[in-house]
Amino acid sequence: MRILITSGPTRQYLDPVRFISNASSGIMGRELAQAALDAGHEVVVVSGPVKVNYPPAVRVIDVETTEQMLEACLVEFPLCDGLIGAAAPCDYRPIEIANHKIRKTGQPLSLVLVETDDIVATLGQQKRTDQWTVGFALETEDAHFRAVTKLQKKMCDIVAINSPQAIDSDENTISVVNSAGDVVLEISGTKCAVAKSLLGYITSHLIKRP
Ligand code: C5P
Repeated sequence: MRILITSGPTRQYLDPVRFISNASSGIMGRELAQAALDAGHEVVVVSGPVKVNYPPAVRVIDVETTEQMLEACLVEFPLCDGLIGAAAPCDYRPIEIANHKIRKTGQPLSLVLVETDDIVATLGQQKRTDQWTVGFALETEDAHFRAVTKLQKKMCDIVAINSPQAIDSDENTISVVNSAGDVVLEISGTKCAVAKSLLGYITSHLIKRP
């Protein structure tokens, strides 16, 4: 199988030197890539700016913005069997990017932000019957309900719910829901162990090709 993984944060610039971003280390993406390689799959990672190193056997496409991440995924996804959306892309971008560094005026500065495209949702709409998509949902309350709603909206096969404790940590606790709203996997441990377990579920339940 060839698996596409999005990983890390994206950046949305306000001017040439300032940007808004998300807290995301890329550790979960790296561990998923390693687990997929260990399971014998080919892996393409589309990654925002991160400090982690991906395994050398992975093809990494480096991007900065959500638009670039989507563009790269639109090229790669048709050539892959499935997608794991482990990135934390910015949901908003400034409506305009100033050509020059915005100067201080001593006055409050208001930013107008518009929503970016959702990568997992866009690929979910385009997936063929032999392809699968897995989303992540970082929730602080009503986790199960929100994750099922997200799964339907983004047309995912399964969604892995995690909490803000996962950010920048080597450990994670995930609970995986399917389209029937059932919890099909619960695992807590190192991101390495969690990734291995999630890959195991994907391999045994989502692969649609012989
Ligand atoms: O809606 P929310 O951001 O909580 O959804 C998280 C899931 O959606 C993750 O799988 C994340 O990678 C994906 N996502 C995306 N494109 C965005 C925002 C989130 O693919 N613009």
